[in-house]
Amino acid sequence: MNTADRHLLRLGEIDWPADPAAIFGRSAPLVVEVGFGNGQFLEEMARLHPEWNLLGVEIAPASVTRAWRRLHASHLPHVKVMRGQASFVVRELCPPRGLHRLFVNFPDPWPKEKHEERRLLREPFLRLLSTRLAEGGALLLTSDHPEYFRFSVEQARATGLFRITEGEPPAEMLRTKYAQRWLGLRKSIFHAEFRKLAEDAGPHPPWVEVEDMQHIRLKGSLDGIGDFEKSLHRFEGGQVVLKNSYRGLDGKVLIFLCIVDEGDLRQEVLVEARPSASGIFVALMGFGAPVVTRGVKEAVRAAAGWLRQQGLELIEEAV
Ligand SMILES: C[S@@+](CC[C@H](N)C(=O)[O-])C[C@H]1O[C@@H](n2cnc3c(N)ncnc32)[C@H](O)[C@@H]1O
Repeated sequence: MNTADRHLLRLGEIDWPADPAAIFGRSAPLVVEVGFGNGQFLEEMARLHPEWNLLGVEIAPASVTRAWRRLHASHLPHVKVMRGQASFVVRELCPPRGLHRLFVNFPDPWPKEKHEERRLLREPFLRLLSTRLAEGGALLLTSDHPEYFRFSVEQARATGLFRITEGEPPAEMLRTKYAQRWLGLRKSIFHAEFRKLAEDAGPHPPWVEVEDMQHIRLKGSLDGIGDFEKSLHRFEGGQVVLKNSYRGLDGKVLIFLCIVDEGDLRQEVLVEARPSASGIFVALMGFGAPVVTRGVKEAVRAAAGWLRQQGLELIEEAV
C-alpha cells in the first residue's frame, strides 16, 4: 500500500466481515465521523487523539477527495476516509459494541416534510447505532438547525436507548466549515451527547459477504453490436442500471458502466466484454475496487443479458 492509499478505504480492499483492527493495522477505540465535508474536523480529531482509529464517511465524492488530500499532507497514520452512507458504515464496518464514538456535525437538515425520511438521525438508524456503540459509547451531534436538532433528540428519546445531555459544543466542533459559516451569520448552534444506555433487541446483522466472481462466456462477435440504451434490472434486494457502454481504446473490448444499488450501498462498477479464442468473456473489472456483492454479480448478468439480446449466445455462466 502506498502512503496516499493508506488514508482512503475502498470496499474491495476489505476482508469481510470487516474488522477495524485489521483495516487500521492495530487495535484501538474506533471513532467515526459522518459527513466530514472538507475533513478539517477529522484531521483535528486525529491530531488530538492519536489513540483512536478514526474513520470518516461521506456520500459526496468531491468531499472525499478533498479530505483525502488534506490527510495525505498531514501524515497521520490512524485516520481514513471512505465514500459511502453512514448507515452502511455503522452496520457493516462497526462490530457489535465496537464503536467508541460517532460524530455528526451539521447534518443536512432536510427541512421539507416530504424529505423527512432522508434525515439520518431517525429511529431506525439510532436503534442500529445502539447495537454498535460500546458500553459508555456516544453519538455527538452538533447542528445549526433547531427543528432538526429537536427532531433528533425526540427520535432518540422515543427509542429509550440513550441518555441525552444537551450543552455547549466543544470548541473543536465550532471550527468546521459549516460551523464557521453559521457563526458568521450569528446563528445559534445546538449540541447534544446521546450516550448509550441500552441496546435495541433487533439483531441488525451485517449483510455484505464477498461472493465468488468469475465470468459469463458468450459465443458471437462484438463487431457491429447495436446501439446501446440505458436499462434497469431489478433483483431481490436491489437494482442495477446499465448506464452506458464504451469501446476500449483497442476497439475490441466493450465496457459497461453499471450503477448497483443495494439498500444503503451504491457502487459504480465497470463490466467488460473481452473477445478471446474461446469466446467473449464478460466479467467485472477491478477499477474502483468494488466489493463483489450479489448486486455486482447481477451487473455482470445484466451486461451479458444485453449482449444476448444483441444476438450473442450463452456458452457458460460462472458467476
Ligand atoms: C452540511 S454538510 C456539513 C459538513 C461538515 N460536517 C461541516 O460541519 O463542515 C453535511 C455533509 O454530510 C454529508 N452527508 C449527508 N448525508 C450523509 C450520509 N447519509 N452519509 C454520509 N455523509 C452524508 C453531505 O455530503 C455533506 O458533506
